[in-house]
Amino acid sequence: MHLTLRQLTLFEAVARHLSFTRAAEELHLSQPAVSMQVRQLEDAAGLPLFEKLGKRIHLTEAGREMYNYCRHIGEQLRELDEVMSALKGVRRGHLRLSVATTANSFATRILGAFAQRYPESTYSLDVTNRKALLDQLAENQTDIVIMGKPPEGLDLEVQAFMENPLVVIARPDHPLVAEPGPIPLERIQSETFVVRECESGTRIAMERFFRERGMQLRTGIETTSNSAIKNAVEAGLGLGIVSIHTLGLELKAGALVVLDVEGFPILRHWHVVYRQGKRLPPIAQAFLDYLHGDEARPLLQVPTG
Ligand code: PGA
Repeated sequence: MHLTLRQLTLFEAVARHLSFTRAAEELHLSQPAVSMQVRQLEDAAGLPLFEKLGKRIHLTEAGREMYNYCRHIGEQLRELDEVMSALKGVRRGHLRLSVATTANSFATRILGAFAQRYPESTYSLDVTNRKALLDQLAENQTDIVIMGKPPEGLDLEVQAFMENPLVVIARPDHPLVAEPGPIPLERIQSETFVVRECESGTRIAMERFFRERGMQLRTGIETTSNSAIKNAVEAGLGLGIVSIHTLGLELKAGALVVLDVEGFPILRHWHVVYRQGKRLPPIAQAFLDYLHGDEARPLLQVPTG
């Protein structure tokens, strides 16, 4: 069977997403380019790997077999990469860091400062939501993750390193801004909230907060971006609940206000997470040491509301 590593990589992404479009997006390729490589792989295998039922694609039996092998090959390749990185040492390694969308605000700053110490190393920073981060950890597609608390029971090393308070934001002319705090929770229950997507850690935490108090959140626009939430709140489309790390200039400029609401801020923490037993490349270990050391401390200040 004549097949190429590239075909396997593209096939793996399509099989994982069960979507040519999403695989093409992830790999920064056009969809026809991905389809062509997968078709060539099907020709090489002499069997169809996908079937289309209605609008959705599914793996055939041959596709499922191919996918299992691809995942193993992928893991082996990543391990090979890690071994090579270890041999190169901390100076010329490659660090794969994946962070929650919300952590982007400070993670870029920390990675930038760290990279100045090791300019010969290379870095990749993936910014995505909580669910995608857990998938990356499960598939060993990243070295280190920065996220809210991962679920219990997974084989993960988890270290908390900074607070992550979630606050309620409003535009300055919202009627609740004039109310003396703390504003009772019942008062905000009837408000509409601009929210993040369901897989976001912020969204999960805010829903849990209201559920635990026997309340239901009224949601309006849903978006994958914290900036879009702030813009929507500024535009008068509702209130928002965001990490304080996402706020800065809007508060100083008076475009947004943090409301003093009963039970808020929701207190969460940022965690640095990696797979138990993972052979961390030296550059990744150096990053962990840096994050927990004195030098990074000024970069880890929690903004005040
Ligand atoms: P997120 O943040 O909402 O950007 O996914 C992660 C988290 O708070 O757990």
